[in-house]
Amino acid sequence: MQTISIDTKHKHYEVYVGSHIYESALSLYTHQLQKADHVVIFVDEVVANLHGEKLQKPLETISGKAVHVFKLPAGESSKAVETFMACHSFLLEIGCTRKSIIFALGGGACGDVVGFVASTFMRGIPFFQCPTTILAHDSAVGGKTAINHPQGKNMIGSFYQPEAVLFDVSTLSTLPQQEILSGMAEVIKHALISDQQWLQELLEFPSFADISSTQYLAFLVKGIQVKAAIVEEDEYEQSVRKYLNLGHTYGHAIEASTGFGKITHGESVAIGLVIALLLSEEKQLLDQGNARKLFEALTKFGYSFDSVLEHGIDELLSYMKRDKKASFGELHFVLLEQIGKPCMNIVSVEDVTLAHEQLRKWIKEVH
Ligand SMILES: NC(=O)c1ccc[n+]([C@@H]2O[C@H](COP(=O)([O-])OP(=O)(O)OC[C@H]3O[C@@H](n4cnc5c(N)ncnc54)[C@H](O)[C@@H]3O)[C@@H](O)[C@H]2O)c1
Ligand SMILES: [Zn+2]
Repeated sequence: MQTISIDTKHKHYEVYVGSHIYESALSLYTHQLQKADHVVIFVDEVVANLHGEKLQKPLETISGKAVHVFKLPAGESSKAVETFMACHSFLLEIGCTRKSIIFALGGGACGDVVGFVASTFMRGIPFFQCPTTILAHDSAVGGKTAINHPQGKNMIGSFYQPEAVLFDVSTLSTLPQQEILSGMAEVIKHALISDQQWLQELLEFPSFADISSTQYLAFLVKGIQVKAAIVEEDEYEQSVRKYLNLGHTYGHAIEASTGFGKITHGESVAIGLVIALLLSEEKQLLDQGNARKLFEALTKFGYSFDSVLEHGIDELLSYMKRDKKASFGELHFVLLEQIGKPCMNIVSVEDVTLAHEQLRKWIKEVH
């Protein structure tokens, strides 16, 4: 089991990563778990059937009490306000108090809604993140919680750090291919903003299936370390935390215009990463050729770029201008000065249009 410490101004906590780690990681919290008046697992309904018992059994043994389990709709639909309310109702019905502890077992969606429930139930109770997707190596760390409003994704939320993150990578064995692509996009993003050599190593794999479980573990730990270092420096996204949004401005526009759920978050981010590199090259920050290299590697891994052909730049721009990170109507993009060296940049509509057109050309060439 590997341990990564996260030190924010308001909270110090650990991220435990490894295969079958629940029992050993939970035992480090025996006192806290035994003191709790109720222990509740909120779990994605798909994950409940596949991996629910892995967490529930050791948790019951270590806490010395029956653990309540509440299933959430699978994936993004759990971030609806109705699910948020249902979680609160459940906690109230079983008599939870400020002395109760809750667990989130599932992907990023489950972690986001349960984190927000934890941050709001009786003004805040402790919670543990137990991520079960590759993508959640990113989302479970850093304390951003959220649910969706019909008018926008992640519009209601808070910054609220967990007690600990327990990442049992053995749960990843059941991930569907699309979720592997989604999660690996965030791993590639972490490499792009931190380490040229690591990026090269990643892009050279013939396919994600060629990555061994030991290598996966090492990459996830590396990704968490990149995120941890940034979150420690800037918990509330006033400065360097913005770098984690590399690929997200254009990516979110693709995700929103394609329709949430039709394309995964990471698949849209992958497309956004190529645009970010194209823009970095246009602005002569980054050496030519990096964007093309990334595009070719992502195509090899099986990412689809079709959505770029399906949406015109005006439609995408209308989303980009509404982005939470946009301010005063200007487009703020995270770009790269070098691989491993992100920077913030104001980008014009013309710049984005050029990058979008260039990417469309490449996509048509490989079709
Ligand atoms: N808080 C943050 O900092 C942050 C960062 C990035 C993304 N996010 C959020 O994370 C969410 C996406 O998370 P995600 O990609 O993990 O997707 P997800 O939670 O929607 O899960 C994707 C699908 O995989 C299934 N699944 C989960 N684990 C599985 C497993 N081990 N085996 C088989 N199936 C499994 C789920 O049932 C679901 O259908 C988005 O809502 C996004 O906004 C948050
Ligand atoms: Zn993301």
